[in-house]
Amino acid sequence: MEKTIDESVQGNSLSLEHKKDNDRKLYIESYGCQMNFSDSEIVASILANEGFNTTNTLEEADLVLVNTCSIREKAEATVRKRLEKFNAIKETRPHMKVGVLGCMAERLKSKLLEEEKIVDMVVGPDAYKDLPNLIQEIDEGRNAVNVILSKEETYGDIAPVRLNTNGVTAFVSITRGCDNMCTFCVVPFTRGRERSREPQSILQEVSELWEKGYREVTLLGQNVDSYLWYGGGMKKDFEKASEMQRATAVNFAKLLEMTAQAQPKMRIRFSTSNPQDMTLDVIHVMARHRNICNYIHLPVQSGSNRILKAMNRLHTREEYFALIDNIRKLIPDCGISQDMITGFPTETEADHQDTLSLMEYVKYDYGFMFAYSERPGTMAARKLEDDVPLETKKRRLSEVIALQRKHCQLRTEQYVGQVQEILIEGTSKKSEEHWMGRNSQNTVAVFPKEGYQVGEFVMVKMNSCTSATLIGEAVGYSENQV
Ligand code: SAH
Ligand code: F3S
Repeated sequence: MEKTIDESVQGNSLSLEHKKDNDRKLYIESYGCQMNFSDSEIVASILANEGFNTTNTLEEADLVLVNTCSIREKAEATVRKRLEKFNAIKETRPHMKVGVLGCMAERLKSKLLEEEKIVDMVVGPDAYKDLPNLIQEIDEGRNAVNVILSKEETYGDIAPVRLNTNGVTAFVSITRGCDNMCTFCVVPFTRGRERSREPQSILQEVSELWEKGYREVTLLGQNVDSYLWYGGGMKKDFEKASEMQRATAVNFAKLLEMTAQAQPKMRIRFSTSNPQDMTLDVIHVMARHRNICNYIHLPVQSGSNRILKAMNRLHTREEYFALIDNIRKLIPDCGISQDMITGFPTETEADHQDTLSLMEYVKYDYGFMFAYSERPGTMAARKLEDDVPLETKKRRLSEVIALQRKHCQLRTEQYVGQVQEILIEGTSKKSEEHWMGRNSQNTVAVFPKEGYQVGEFVMVKMNSCTSATLIGEAVGYSENQV
C-alpha cells in the first residue's frame, strides 16, 4: 500500500504540455487475463475525458500504456521485451511517455522506474481513476506512481470505451480481486481483496451493450461465483453487515438470473469459476435460462488430492467429480474447460498420473495448461522449494496437452451431424468467404457467409471438424434472431 510521486526525477523539457487539450493520442496494449483487457477499456474511457483518442499505431502515440500480467515469469519477460521496443521508438519521439499498468505495476511498484528507465508512470489496477493527476505529474516532467489497492473500487460508474471490438461480444466486470489465496498465485497480491460491483450498474451496462448491437456478454471476475453484493465493501466483511443488508444481498446465482431475465435474447457467459465457490444454484439458473450459455470454465490445477491441498485449493478430487456429475446431470450438453499446472513443488509421477486420470474422467472440451512458475511473495515461493526439474515439468505439460488435444477432438466431433445455433462474430481468419462464430458451448464454428451478417444468430449444420473448429453450412436463422 503506497503512493509515491517521485519528484526527484526530472523529465526532459519536451513534455506533453504543448500537446494538451484534445489532440493527444493514446496507444494501449494489454497482456494476460480477460480482466486486463476489460480494465484497459476503463482506462481508455477515463482518458477519453482527458482528451486522449486511442490509436492502434504505436508510432503516432503521445502516451503509451501497457497493461501487464505477472501470473508467470514469462508474462513479465514479454512485457520487458515490449518496453525495449518502446524505447527504440522514443528515440525518434522524445515527448512520448510510457506508463505501466496492471499486475506488474502492483507487484514491482516504484522499483519498475529504476529497473526500466523508459517508464514514466506506474499505476496499479485499483488506481486508474487517479490517471488524470498522474498524467499531470508526468506532463510536468516528474515520474508518477500510484499502486494503492482499494477496498471499494469496482469502476462500476465508468462506461468502458470498447477497444478492438467485434461489436458483438463484450466483457463486463462484476468482481475485482481474489480472496482465495491459492499458494502458487500472485493475483491476490496484485489485485487485492474481493469486491463486487453494484448489480444495477451491471444490468445497465448490459442493457446499453444490447442497444448498441452487442449480442453476447461475459460476466468477468477472478472468481465470479464468489460475487456478493450487500451494499458495497469487501466480501470478507459480509459477516459484519447489518441484518437488512444480509437479507437483501445478491449472490452470483441471483445476479446471473437477473441478467438473463433483463436481456432474454442476449447470450450470457461468465468466467472464471472456482470449484469450491460454484453452487448448485448457479447450475440450476443456467439450466433454466436458454440465453445463459452452456459452458463453464472450471480450473482445477491438479488431479492429486495432496497437491490440491498444497495449492490451497479448497476442494478434493472427489468433490470436483461430484460437481462435474451435477453439471452433467442438470446440463447434459455443457462444455467444460480447465486450467492445469504441471510440476507444482513436490509433485510426483503418481500425482501427475492423478491429473491425467482426472482429465480422462471429465474429458474437457478445452484447456489452458502451464508449467509451474514460482512467483515471488506467494506462499508456495516462501514455503516450498521449486523442486520439480524444468524438464520434468515440461514433459508432464506435454503429456497433459496431448491428452487435452485428444479430448478436444472428441468433444468437437460430437457436434458433427448436428445443427447448432451460432452467433456470428466476424470473418474467419482462414477464409474471407466464411463467417466465424461460436456455439453455446464456446466451440468455434466456420461456415460460408451467404447472406448472413455479423451479430446474427444462425442455425448451422456441422459437416466436419478439425480438432477445435467445426465446419458447417447455415440452414436458416435461429428463433433467437432479432
Ligand atoms: N481466477 C483466475 C485465475 C487467474 S490465473 C481467472 O480468472 O482465470 C490463470 C491460470 O494461470 C490459473 O488458473 C493457473 O492455472 C495459472 N497459474 C496461476 N499462477 C501460476 C503459476 N505460478 N505458475 C503457473 N501457472 C499459474
Ligand atoms: Fe489465483 Fe486462485 Fe484466485 S488461481 S486468482 S488465487 S482463485
